[in-house]
Formats: sequence, C-alpha cells, structure tokens
Amino acid sequence: MNHFFKSTIKSSEITPEQVYLSRRKLLKVGGAGLGAMAAMGTLAACSGAATPTAKPAQAPSGQTAVPDVAPVAKAAADELGNKLNSYKEITNYNNYYEFSTDKEEVAVLAANYAPPAPFKVEVTGLVGKAMTFDLDDLKKKFGEEERVYRLRCVEGWSMVIPWMGFSLAGLLKAVEPTSAAKFVRFYSHHDSNMPGNSLDWPYVEGLRLDEAMNELSLMATGLYGKALPVQNGAPVRLALPWKYGFKSIKAVTKVELVAEQPVNTWKAANAGEYGFYSNVNPNRPHPRWTQANERRIGESGRRATLLFNGYEKQVAGLYAGMDLVQEY
Ligand code: MTE
Repeated sequence: MNHFFKSTIKSSEITPEQVYLSRRKLLKVGGAGLGAMAAMGTLAACSGAATPTAKPAQAPSGQTAVPDVAPVAKAAADELGNKLNSYKEITNYNNYYEFSTDKEEVAVLAANYAPPAPFKVEVTGLVGKAMTFDLDDLKKKFGEEERVYRLRCVEGWSMVIPWMGFSLAGLLKAVEPTSAAKFVRFYSHHDSNMPGNSLDWPYVEGLRLDEAMNELSLMATGLYGKALPVQNGAPVRLALPWKYGFKSIKAVTKVELVAEQPVNTWKAANAGEYGFYSNVNPNRPHPRWTQANERRIGESGRRATLLFNGYEKQVAGLYAGMDLVQEY
C-alpha cells in the first residue's frame, strides 16, 4: 500500500533549484489594523499576490538568510511525477503570521529568531500516559523518513515539498488515547520574540482522531534532508497534504486529546471562509478564490485542483456519508 511517496531516487538526481533574484520590498503593516481586519474576517489564511515569485531572503545585515547551496532530498518528484519545488521557493514564500502577513518577509524575520531549546512537545489530555518529548526524543523514538507531499493553499497556489518526519499516529499511540478521546487539538509555540500580531495566539488547529491516525498525517521535522527552518515551522509541524495549508500547524508544542471538536484559529477568525475539516475540494466554492484550479509556485499557468489534493485513495474513506460541501 503506497500511502505516500517514499523516495528511492538517488540524491544525484535532484532537480536543480531555481533562484529568483529580485529586490525585496518590505510591506509595513500596522498591527492594530490587522487585528481589526482579522476581527472583521477580511484577513486571509493564505494572503498575498496571486502570482508570487520566491525571492532569496535577505537578513537585515544584507546577508542571505538561506544557504546558497540547496540541501539534499532523495526524491526528485512526487508519486504523480510533479517535480519538487526548490529549497529556496519552499523557504522564502511562507505563511507564518506569528512573524508577518507578508509571505516573503517571514524568512527575513525568522533569521533573527530561535525557538526555545530544548523545545518541548507535550502530549496530553484524554490519554493513559501523558508524555513530554524534546526533539531528540521524538526523532529517537519515532524516526525520520522522507515523504514528498503536495501542499495546496486555499488561496489557489501550491508546492511540492520533500518533508522529513514521522507518522502522527505513532506519537498518539504512544500516549494511549482513552475511549473518550475523539479529536486532537494542536497548539503552536508563541513567544514575545515573534513580531506578528494579526491573530489571537497561540495558533490552534484540530483533527478528528481518525484523521490524525491516518498514515498520511505527518509530524514534519525537516525538509530537503535537513532540519526544518524556522519559517517552515521549526522544530516540528504538521503536514496534512489532503487539507488546505492552514491546517498544517507550525511549531507544535502541545497536542491534546479531547472529546469535542476543537475551534481552530482560522475558523474562529472567519467561519465563512475557513472550516474545521477544510479538505481540498475543487467542488466547494470559496467566496474569494476559485478552488477549481491552482498555480504551482515556479510555473506559469494554472493546473486543475484534485479532490483531496490527489490523496483520495488514502483519505476518502474517512468522510463516507459526509457532505463535504456543507461540512467544510
Ligand atoms: N502555523 C502557524 N503556527 N501559523 C501560521 O500562520 N500558516 C498556515 C500553516 N501553518 C500558519 C501555520 C498556512 S495558511 C499555510 S498555507 C502553511 O502553514 C504554510 O506552510 P509553509 O510556509 O511551510 O509553506
């Protein structure tokens, strides 16, 4: 059963990265104004230009914030033959509102930030054995493998990313969920060195327990064979390839097994645009962006959006009998 693409291709076959050089223009956004926008529901989970270009991040000193040499992925493409986005594209075009609402500014600000070390991930709630892990414990206990996943943002752009990580299911099984546990709530780390102030922190997300146990649900600890950069959610974030990108919460510091459906950050900010399930669905209209097609970062033109982002075989069974247009 091939739930995801585990790479078998040699590192020498990696697609060379594309470098987009252009001058940075920092968008200065007033925090109070953004708070008001979020309250009015006009802030976008995946806001930004419709035709983005990935730019190398410039640290304030003028030094490049990302390595000049792209690290190595074992794979060159996903299981559908889509080539990987470059390391620079993946690490310079980010949604991480704790830093900025400007996707190209996130990497710049992240260059001056380090998550607490050791970083703790608490797994708790309706469980037999609550546990707290640091990153080394997680890697030792659950390992790290490469999985190439497509990421589809509700705004209509997408990327193909070679994550490193381990199955969320393994982590959940280790704490022995009780029979009362029906959902999982995730909390992002937040601290005062993160300059963004556009939403209520911490960022919260949720899954039904069976979604969380699905083999596709990945706790990502790296990309392109290296530790996760801050802008992509270091040290550990979720990667849920069949759901819109905002479900893939970054810098997970608490995982809580609960009885009721959690209220996730974007649904709380604007339930008219963002849901709890939020599965990629070309048939569910969105008030602002077409979901029928998407622009792959680095490509011109648009390609058709696939139901469940192309992962129908692995996840459609989770939603048997549900109306995914109504129950979004
Ligand atoms: N997690 C946190 N904590 N804060 C965020 O702002 N943005 C989400 C998601 N996880 C976000 C987050 C959105 S809208 C998207 S599209 C993806 O992260 C983007 O992941 P990437 O920057 O690694 O591509």
